[in-house]
Amino acid sequence: MPSRDPLVELSQRFTAAIRAAFPEAADADPLIAPCKNPEHGDFQSNAAMGLAKRLGQKPRDAALALVAKVDPGDLIEPLTPASIAGPGFINIRLRPRAIASMLAALDSPSLGIEPAQPPSTIVVDLMGVNLAKQMHVGHLRSPIIGDAIARTLERLGHTVIRQNHVGDWGLNIAMVTGRLMREISQGRTRLETLTLDELDRAYVAAQAECQRDLAGLEAVRRFGLGPKAEAELEAQVGGATEAFTLARQTLINLQKKDPATYAVWQRIYQVTMQTCLDVCKTLAVNVTDEHTAGESTYADELAPMVQDLLDRGIAVHDQGAIVIRVDEPPAGPDGEPLWKPIKEPCIIRKTDGGFLYATTDVCAIRRRVQKLGGSRLIYVIDARQNLHLRQVFAASIRAGYSVVKGTGLPAHMEHAAFGAVLGEDGRPFKTRSGDTVRLADLLAETFGRAEQALKDAAAQRGETLDDAQAREIARAVGIAALKYGDLSTDRTKDYLFSFDRMLAFEGNTGPYLLYAYVRTRSILRKAAERGMGEGWKTAPFSASDPAEKQLALALLRYPAAVAGVAEALEPHRLCQYLYDLAGAFSVFFDRCPVLAAEPGARDSRLRVCALTARVLADGLGVLGIPTIERM
Ligand code: ARG
Repeated sequence: MPSRDPLVELSQRFTAAIRAAFPEAADADPLIAPCKNPEHGDFQSNAAMGLAKRLGQKPRDAALALVAKVDPGDLIEPLTPASIAGPGFINIRLRPRAIASMLAALDSPSLGIEPAQPPSTIVVDLMGVNLAKQMHVGHLRSPIIGDAIARTLERLGHTVIRQNHVGDWGLNIAMVTGRLMREISQGRTRLETLTLDELDRAYVAAQAECQRDLAGLEAVRRFGLGPKAEAELEAQVGGATEAFTLARQTLINLQKKDPATYAVWQRIYQVTMQTCLDVCKTLAVNVTDEHTAGESTYADELAPMVQDLLDRGIAVHDQGAIVIRVDEPPAGPDGEPLWKPIKEPCIIRKTDGGFLYATTDVCAIRRRVQKLGGSRLIYVIDARQNLHLRQVFAASIRAGYSVVKGTGLPAHMEHAAFGAVLGEDGRPFKTRSGDTVRLADLLAETFGRAEQALKDAAAQRGETLDDAQAREIARAVGIAALKYGDLSTDRTKDYLFSFDRMLAFEGNTGPYLLYAYVRTRSILRKAAERGMGEGWKTAPFSASDPAEKQLALALLRYPAAVAGVAEALEPHRLCQYLYDLAGAFSVFFDRCPVLAAEPGARDSRLRVCALTARVLADGLGVLGIPTIERM
C-alpha cells in the first residue's frame, strides 16, 4: 500500500467538498493545518472564513455547508456542526484505524519516500577551497550545507553530481607558486615537507609583495601626476613590480606546463587537497577526489570560449575589456524576463588579456549542463557572491550554454546562499589573539570538549567511560554538534558559533538528537535481552494514548519534511522536524510504559519505537550525521 500523508489526503477531501458546496469558489485553498490544541482535534481547516468573505456569507454558514459535504471515508471521524469552533474553524479528528494503517505503510523500507519520477540530474557546487590557504571555520558551511542538500536530493531519487570548484588557477596561485620557487631556490623551503601552514604564509607574503605594487601603480595612473612624479613613484614600487612581473611569468609558465613550475604547483595542489579531503572525511562529508573539478580544468577552454562568444556577438569589447551585458533579459516561455536585469556587465576578459573568476564559472556552467547533463545547478556559496552568480547565470543563458537538451530552456540555476560564521561577540569568528581559527584546531577542540562532556555526564550517573569508548562516542557527538549546529539555523542568516550551545545535550542540538536515537535503540535492545521476540515487528499499531497519537502524527510528517528541504534547499526545516519528532518521542516515553505494558500495547509501542529510530536515523543520515548505538 502506498503511504499516505494525512495532510495531503485531507486537502484532497476538503478541496472536493469546497467544489461541491461552492462551485463558484472551486479554486479556494482548503487551508488544512495541524490543530493548535490537540484536545480539539488532530487537524483543522481554516477555509470557511475566506470563503465566507469571498461569497458574502456568514463564516459559520460557510463552515456548515462545508462540513455537510466532506466525505469522511475511512480517514476521519464524521464531521458535524459540533466540529465547528469559533468563527468557523473546522476541527478534524483522524480515525485511530486510519492512523494505524498509515503508520504501517510508513513502516516500509522507503519510509514513505517515493523516488522522484522522473529523476533529474542535479549538480551541487560545494566546498570550493582555494589552494595554499589554510582552512578555517568559514570553510565549514559550504560542505556541510552542500552535502546535506545533495544527500536530500539523492534520498529523493535524483542523480546528484557534486562539484568541488577548487580555486587552483590564476594570478593569485601563480604569485604563491613563484614565491615558493624562489624560497626553494634560496633553500628556505623544502617541497617534500611542505605544509599547508607554510603555504598559507607564502600566500600572504606573495599577496603583500604584489599588492604593494598594484596600489602604487594605480596611484600613479589615477592621479595622472605627469612623467616626473610617475617615474618617482615607479622607483618606489620598483621592488614590488619585480614580484608582479615574476607572478605573470609564472602564470605563463604554468599555462605552458613548464615542468619545474608545474611540479611546484602540483605539490601545492596536493598539500591543500589533502587537508581539504581529510576534513571532509573527518566530518563525514561526502566530498572526495572524484568530485574535484578545479578552475585549472577549465583553463584551456577559456580562450576558445571567449572567441566563440565574440564571434556570435554575445560578448563585446568594452573599454579594452570583453564583457557580456546582462541588463536586458529576454522573456521566458511564461512571458516573464528570464532574470532580473543586472546593470553591471559580466566581465570575461580583462584589459590585460587575463581571464577572470566569472569566465571560468560561465565555462563551468557549460560543462555542467552540456557534458554532465545537469538540469538543475545549485551553488552552495557565501551570500557575498550573489552578484557574481547572478551575472554568470545570466551570461550563460545569453550564451545558450545552459540550455537543457530536449527542452529548449535554460537549466534551473540557484544560489543557495549562506551567511557568515560569527563569534559569540557577534563579530567574525577569531581566536583570542585575533587570528582565524584553523579548521583542524577547531575539530580537535570540538572532539575534546565532547569527550569531556560525555565523561562528566557519565560521572554524574556514577559510571566511568574508558578513554577509547569516550573518544569514539565523542567523535560522533562532535560531528553531530558541528553539523547540526550549522544546519539548524536558517542558512541565509549569519550564525553564531558557540561550542557550549552546539554541544549541549538539551535543546535543538545534534547531541540531543543523537541521544533521542540512542534511547530508542536501547529500548529495543532491552526488549531483545528480555526475550520479547520479533512478533512486535508486525504488531498492529495503536494510537489510543494521546502521547502515542502525537508521536504517530509526527512520524507521518516525515516524507513531507524531506521533500520540503529539496524545494527551498533549507535543511533547517528537517532539523526542526527531527527536533519535534524527538520531543514527541520524549513525551510518549515519559507517559507510555513500553516494556512494562501488557503484551498488546507493548508490541505496538515497541514497533513505534523502532519506527521512530528508523526515521531519526534516516533523517540524520539525510543531513549527513552518522548515528551511534550507545552514548
Ligand atoms: N573558490 C571560491 C571562493 O573561495 C569558491 C568557489 C565557489 N564555486 C564556484 N563555482 N564559483 O570564493
